[in-house]
Amino acid sequence: MSLKDRFSRIIDYMRISITDRCNLRCIYCMPHELEPLIHKEILTYEEIIRIVKVGARLGVRKVRITGGEPLARKNVQYLIRKLKEIDGIEDLSMTTNGVLLNRYAREVKESGLDRVNVSLDSLRKERYREITRGGSLEEILSGIELAEKIGLDPVKINAVIIRGINDDEIEDFARLTLTTPYHVRFIEFMPGTDNYWSEDRCVPMKEIKERIYKTFGELIPVKVRKHGPARYFRISGASGVIGFISAVTHHFCSECNRLRITPDGKIRPCLFSDTEIDLRSAIRRGADDDEIERLLRLSVAVKPEGHRISEDIPAGVINRPMSKLGG
Ligand code: GTP
Ligand code: 5AD
Ligand code: SF4
Repeated sequence: MSLKDRFSRIIDYMRISITDRCNLRCIYCMPHELEPLIHKEILTYEEIIRIVKVGARLGVRKVRITGGEPLARKNVQYLIRKLKEIDGIEDLSMTTNGVLLNRYAREVKESGLDRVNVSLDSLRKERYREITRGGSLEEILSGIELAEKIGLDPVKINAVIIRGINDDEIEDFARLTLTTPYHVRFIEFMPGTDNYWSEDRCVPMKEIKERIYKTFGELIPVKVRKHGPARYFRISGASGVIGFISAVTHHFCSECNRLRITPDGKIRPCLFSDTEIDLRSAIRRGADDDEIERLLRLSVAVKPEGHRISEDIPAGVINRPMSKLGG
């Protein structure tokens, strides 16, 4: 069984944002005055597990837990254990800011998490603190090291490049791959809700690639097991790899394989589209698994072909704060 949309894309990847709360306040992600969701608005673990079970029945094979900051939700180990037990789920990963990795990396690994992607937008202590409004770079770097050491493999590092903020660190991020096995991914800054986006702050991937080429020479394409939109390369002789996620200037929509579940239980078929399907209300009204299946199918049926921001910047912004969506 598989979920196929109108554009013949197979949807086998579910991104689940389990909380909108975060222990950092990154300038491009979390608007200052954002009201957090209240407890009862948020899907319970049992509700999430049920949704994934039905998803797996329909061909979902990869699940990513996101936030907000997912490690900040109580007892996420329980959720991981239960999701890992579901027949059909082959890849269970998490996107985290890394603050709590020192504390929880071992436990989440033991519970069954396969790998982590860690957001890290500066390698400079002071700047990291400013971008995150208070984060500690040492803490994140040691958390990343630990994650790698205990086999949350591969560890991917997500760096959103913003002109005037951290674009002078492109070479430093690329250099990190010379000596570490990390997958360092450069991400184009996407227009979101109150996130300071402007066209000139978004550094096109072409420019990022040219800068790396100038300093390090040819980038050798690498085949890595592909889940998402990144394209991977290696600097000659490097231990790690470099990934490029051209979320704005290049359409990877034709290969999109994902659905999102928001913390308040909406299915969001596309990051850039306002369309959401209210799964939580259905579940809380007593929907059975067939009804959940019907709503998942419906959301695949209405999944848009993609965004058009590269032709008409910004034809749209992401109308939910990233912390309530999970990136
Ligand atoms: P892997 O499974 O490890 O490849 O993960 P991923 O890259 O899909 O997930 P991650 O949460 O690390 O996201 C990396 C970046 O890609 C973030 O900036 C996301 O917002 C962005 N991203 C992820 N999925 C999509 C998508 O479907 N559309 C767009 N436009 N951006 C996406
Ligand atoms: N543009 C690109 N990436 C973003 N992220 C959050 N907001 C944006 C944005 N506006 C990234 C985070 C995290 C991932 C889930 O999404 O840095 O790594
Ligand atoms: Fe998929 Fe929409 Fe992202 Fe395109 S913009 S890759 S269709 S989620």
